[in-house]
Amino acid sequence: MIRYYGKLAGYGKHIPETVITNHDLAQRIDTSDEWITERSGIKERHVVRDDEHCSDLATGAAQKAMDKAGITADEVDLIIVATSSPDYLTPPVSSQVQHNLGAENAGAFVMVVGCTGFVYALVTADQFIRSGRYRNIVVVGVEVTSRNVDWNDRNTCVLFGDGAGAVVIQRTEEEKGVLAHHLGSDGSGFEHIIQVSGGTRYSTTHERLDQGLHYLKMNGREVFKFASVVMGTALKKVLDETGHTTDDIDLFIPHQANARIIEYAAQKAGLPAEKVFINVNKYGNTSAASVPIGIAEAFEQDRLPEGGLLAMVAFGSGLTWASCLFRL
Ligand code: UT7
Repeated sequence: MIRYYGKLAGYGKHIPETVITNHDLAQRIDTSDEWITERSGIKERHVVRDDEHCSDLATGAAQKAMDKAGITADEVDLIIVATSSPDYLTPPVSSQVQHNLGAENAGAFVMVVGCTGFVYALVTADQFIRSGRYRNIVVVGVEVTSRNVDWNDRNTCVLFGDGAGAVVIQRTEEEKGVLAHHLGSDGSGFEHIIQVSGGTRYSTTHERLDQGLHYLKMNGREVFKFASVVMGTALKKVLDETGHTTDDIDLFIPHQANARIIEYAAQKAGLPAEKVFINVNKYGNTSAASVPIGIAEAFEQDRLPEGGLLAMVAFGSGLTWASCLFRL
């Protein structure tokens, strides 16, 4: 019987041009470049213009990934968009992206798993490929968190940025793609990263808007503790499952939330700095977009060799986490 695998055939990123530096923020709120740099490693972040939206960033990244893969829009079978900041709550932004791309033969859906969304989406795409059902799947991670944060709340606004990254996962008979994955969730921590209003539990009212309940709120300390542990355990799971060690990894692309979390996890896992991808300094936390932006930049920097082993770990609201070991 033929076995199918999902190889990474194309990648792309779309970063909005507008940059906000730590110094810019320090002029508007009670913070400083020193505090943000020391606590998070972030120096600047990109944000959308008033006329730029989630669907635009996602379409830009997806088109680049398709061009790189050398496929046309009508060859795309499925589009999965991981995001928590879509243009609208209804309709799903994935259909806007599908329409913008002209991918008339594609199904499309959104995956809402916070910052973990892209890795969940990648693993989902892999299942559709392995089943033999689809040949080309576009997986996008995109966020416009700048529209969901309170720009007067220093606990959140200094940390996040906007952007999109995408990959094309393509059917092959070569043993490539996802070698192992681990998906996790612990809903007992649901309040640690939350936008209270705007869903159906606390639908939008004037009173709730006045209270700022539509803004993203985060208990940074709790998330920090959770993330520092789960990065290591999630990575270990996929290594143990495949009999690999950290020595076999060519590059580790973790979710870019905080350089300290990444460095701590890498050090615990025994990964040397040159095998760890970090760009949180330039973009801040782009949530579901951070891992695919990292993939695109790592290719641009020639850090992902053909046949090499890529490890990814992400974590975020839910609380959720996911890891994946991927043969390039
Ligand atoms: O993608 C997944 C979601 N997010 C994350 O992964 C974020 C995880 N958490 C973190 O990255 C870190 O916890 C933060 C960067 C958010 C904060 O770093 P921290 O070392 O945990 O600082 P802290 O929360 O313990 O706050 C230390 C102090 C507090 O003052 P007091 O209470 O000690 O007087 C804060 O009020 O720093 C204060 N503070 C700030 N000061 C200047 C908080 N935000 C700022 C700020 N500028 N922007």
